[in-house]
Amino acid sequence: VAVDFRQWCVDGVRELAPYQAGKPIEELQRELGISDIIKLASNENPLGPSPLALAAMRAVLDGIALYPDGNGFALKRALAAHHAIDQDCVTLGSGSDHILELIARVFLGPGRSAVISQYGFSIYNIVAQAAGAELRIAPAHAPDHAEQPYGHDLEAMLRLVDASTRVVFIANPNNPTGNFVTGAELEAFLARVPPETVVVVDEAYTEFVTDARHQEATAFLTRFPNLIVVRTFSKAYGLAGVRVGYALATPQLTDLLNRVRLAFNPNALAQVAAVAALGDRSHIERTVAVNRAGKAQLEAGFRALGLTFIPSQCNFLTVDVQRPAQPVFDALLREGIIVRPVGNYGLPRHLRISVGTEAQNIRLLAALGRVLAA
Ligand SMILES: Cc1ncc(COP(=O)(O)O)c(C=O)c1O
Repeated sequence: VAVDFRQWCVDGVRELAPYQAGKPIEELQRELGISDIIKLASNENPLGPSPLALAAMRAVLDGIALYPDGNGFALKRALAAHHAIDQDCVTLGSGSDHILELIARVFLGPGRSAVISQYGFSIYNIVAQAAGAELRIAPAHAPDHAEQPYGHDLEAMLRLVDASTRVVFIANPNNPTGNFVTGAELEAFLARVPPETVVVVDEAYTEFVTDARHQEATAFLTRFPNLIVVRTFSKAYGLAGVRVGYALATPQLTDLLNRVRLAFNPNALAQVAAVAALGDRSHIERTVAVNRAGKAQLEAGFRALGLTFIPSQCNFLTVDVQRPAQPVFDALLREGIIVRPVGNYGLPRHLRISVGTEAQNIRLLAALGRVLAA
């Protein structure tokens, strides 16, 4: 008799649904046999990475038979200098999702709880649930909230924190909604959370933020020893394919995270690419400028189509297509455009669309107009 291993796996995994990633271009090519596909589904940088990062990766290819530096010395040194922080406050990971998993491995498990926000980034649910922790989801602000529709309600999150709560996950700004909590709100929250509860502030999109009320949580690291700030090279730095992210926290928290980190993450290409990318500020400035213009272009285009969208501080917009979004998503695929349905987040009428180049945005808006009119 075949064994049903679903019975034998740990409880958290049994109930888990895998992370839904953006559809790869190659997959759509295989399925529909079409070419000239654009992907606006995973909030990648449409300009690609810095040319310095590409050159750095090419330069290490000849030595690729050797393991990378398991301590990531050069990248940690570069990050420490960039953030004016000690190297023993930096944890490296193969993408920031790896960092989020390390946090769950260190602090979550049966009998422990994690607090997240409704519409919060879905990896938090996965890592917390896989660890066997209880997941507590705070209701977000209402869709008609004046400042932050669908945004994190930190008061509601705080109400769910109790003695069992080991981790609170806050994406600031958030994916898939694009909204943010202000520096003042975040500071007040940190001041009221029990000091033994870890607060994770995930700043994957921080480079794109333009609202002056937002404040990077790195500013709070010295005052709140229970804070972990998480960053990634996947978005503004254009290095999603090599997988590199990091955490900033006290040396003690950093030591705990590194106890469970598999030794050679991130890989050799990722380490040198990140160092080079960090040094190319002009590429980030260009990226941010292209995003700002592209976001305004998409906003104007959506308005012209009579659509509303959630105000976003990120490199994507989540737009209400005023009907079930899945068929719109499917029709856009046939136009060769991959966006992201967010029904799994409880937003069945929204599509999350990454800001592309000017030409990509024009093509998306034209296709969306055709699909909605059909
Ligand atoms: C808020 C947020 N955090 C973390 C990640 C993970 O990114 P990566 O693992 O590529 O660093 C993403 C990616 O979409 C994200 O949107």
